[in-house]
Amino acid sequence: MQKLKFRDNSHMPILGLGTWKSAPNEVYGAVKEAIKIGYRHIDCAAIYGNEQEVGRAVAECITEGIVTRDDLWITSKLWNNAHGEDHVIPALKKTLSDLQLDYLDLYLIHWPVPVKHDLMMPAKAEDFYSLEDMPLTDTWKGMEAAYNEGLSKNIGVSNFGIEKLQLLLEHASVKPSANQVELHPYLSQNGLVDFCHAHNIFVTAYSPLGSSDRPEGMKPESEPVLLEDPTVNKIADNKGVTPAQILLSWIVGRGISVIPKSVNPGRLKQNLEAATVTLSDEESKAVDALNRNRRYIDGSFWAAEGGPHTIDSLWA
Ligand code: A2P
Repeated sequence: MQKLKFRDNSHMPILGLGTWKSAPNEVYGAVKEAIKIGYRHIDCAAIYGNEQEVGRAVAECITEGIVTRDDLWITSKLWNNAHGEDHVIPALKKTLSDLQLDYLDLYLIHWPVPVKHDLMMPAKAEDFYSLEDMPLTDTWKGMEAAYNEGLSKNIGVSNFGIEKLQLLLEHASVKPSANQVELHPYLSQNGLVDFCHAHNIFVTAYSPLGSSDRPEGMKPESEPVLLEDPTVNKIADNKGVTPAQILLSWIVGRGISVIPKSVNPGRLKQNLEAATVTLSDEESKAVDALNRNRRYIDGSFWAAEGGPHTIDSLWA
């Protein structure tokens, strides 16, 4: 499988396993199965509420001799209630303890949306900090401290737009090496990807299959279903592969890493095999043309009435 070479000389396998929405009782089996069949990149986050089960599966795979720690690439993310320079290392240490690891390969600021430290999920305007009161550059100092202590080999961000990346690039002594964002044929993110690649920031695509299992509260009444897209299905039929494999191979073909979530052994295998599917120029162009700048994760949950974050400011 293709690997992305990071600045510290470590290599991220371009296709990994997503664990958002994987229930704690399912994620243990999914991670074990994934590692057994060849996944070497697992994407985690404190807020997913399942890092202990992921950690148990990883630890068992290491003890059973299926992999070594060095063989694996493990990413996790700082939750919104741990913004601020002094909060990063304690949050990262909790994640490391849950994952039973000494270090991460990549630690990301999950969202550019600081929330009061005693809350998990904000419900009203006062639950948030503005970026004036809690600057991203302060949180980034905490990320740099974690990097300098060797707690994570690489540091980066998630859900950051160009303006916020520019701010970090201006102020950082350790530049962000990755930006994880929603990305798929309905949201191709061309401008953001070009900016990131021009600044040596790798992009990771989340929700590559359209995240149809996300909570009902995050879904509109109806939405276009990516896996049912006629163009994607036609290309899949012609090539004798599945629609999911077309979606994933289109992302991999752009040099972007991708983390499809599955807890199903057959789909885990199918998704891993997508890394070896190659689209012709004509097929890629047909998929490129599907872009409609459609977010499945629109961020409206951070835009509380009267609060410091709006949808426009969020994605800027
Ligand atoms: P499951 O976990 O039962 O396999 P995303 O990665 O965009 O968030 O999408 C995850 C959703 O897509 C889950 O509902 C997952 O279900 C489903 N899924 C994962 N792999 C495939 C696949 N190869 N074909 C169809 N659906 C898939």
